[in-house]
Amino acid sequence: MDPMTALTPSALTAAAVRAHLTTHTIGRTLHLLEETMSTNATALALAQAGAEHGTVIAAETQTAGRGRLGRRWFSPGGENLYCSVILTEIPASPRWLSWLPLISAVAVASAVRMSSGLAAVLKWPNDVLLNDRKVGGVLCERSGLSAKGGVVPGGVVIVGIGLNVNTLRAAFPEDLRDLATSLAIEAGRRFDRAALLASLLNALEARCDLYADRASEVEDEYRSLCATVGRRVRVELAGGERLEGRATAVLEDGTLRIAGDGPESPVLALHTADVIHLR
Ligand code: BTN
Repeated sequence: MDPMTALTPSALTAAAVRAHLTTHTIGRTLHLLEETMSTNATALALAQAGAEHGTVIAAETQTAGRGRLGRRWFSPGGENLYCSVILTEIPASPRWLSWLPLISAVAVASAVRMSSGLAAVLKWPNDVLLNDRKVGGVLCERSGLSAKGGVVPGGVVIVGIGLNVNTLRAAFPEDLRDLATSLAIEAGRRFDRAALLASLLNALEARCDLYADRASEVEDEYRSLCATVGRRVRVELAGGERLEGRATAVLEDGTLRIAGDGPESPVLALHTADVIHLR
């Protein structure tokens, strides 16, 4: 039987996810929606209404999935994973807040590696790549309000994760076809999304727990997965300015150091930017 059709894409069910879940908190409360505009927007609303730490919202499809830098996230129904994790108990330290998106990307890459055997790597700050194409991304959004409207330490952080699982090449819009990929495209077979979602949540909780005790171990894991360091890159800065140079390090605060081309060029530490790997 053709491996692409061997596993019929099935609906995500809470029972199927729970069967693979080994976490204590993340995903223990799980809302699976048929459709929503954006699981991040739904999660923010639920968090403000008092949803507990670790609550997860996943949807079969999103009508207005949000990507980084104001982009849309392609969210066809029944094929991929779109989920958001509500975190209300993370420490209010700048180190945690700046590293959380990167830690989350480590969790996604590690779940992809464990579930598929494919060599997922990261493009700074939190794109997940297979063969230089984007298979997943992370969008963290914060709100400083508690259920009662007061500011809480660290506030609420929503970790939104999109992972292209079973979408085939022809189903991507033309502008994404050469830039994006899916597990099915790379592995030549379809994947069980419930098992993958559980593996992703298991990996996220494990990384957050480890970060609380031994932060530098997770930061080093990020560095070992990050394919950006050592590469020539083009950086699109806020305001439309462009810079070409070499990425030389991920610094202690999670920023990316870039040495611009040419003797007069600046050395920058980037907080937020779109980085393109050059050949
Ligand atoms: C990126 O641009 O790389 C981040 C993409 C994040 C997409 C996910 S899909 C689930 C969650 N809900 C959203 O609206 N966005 C995130």
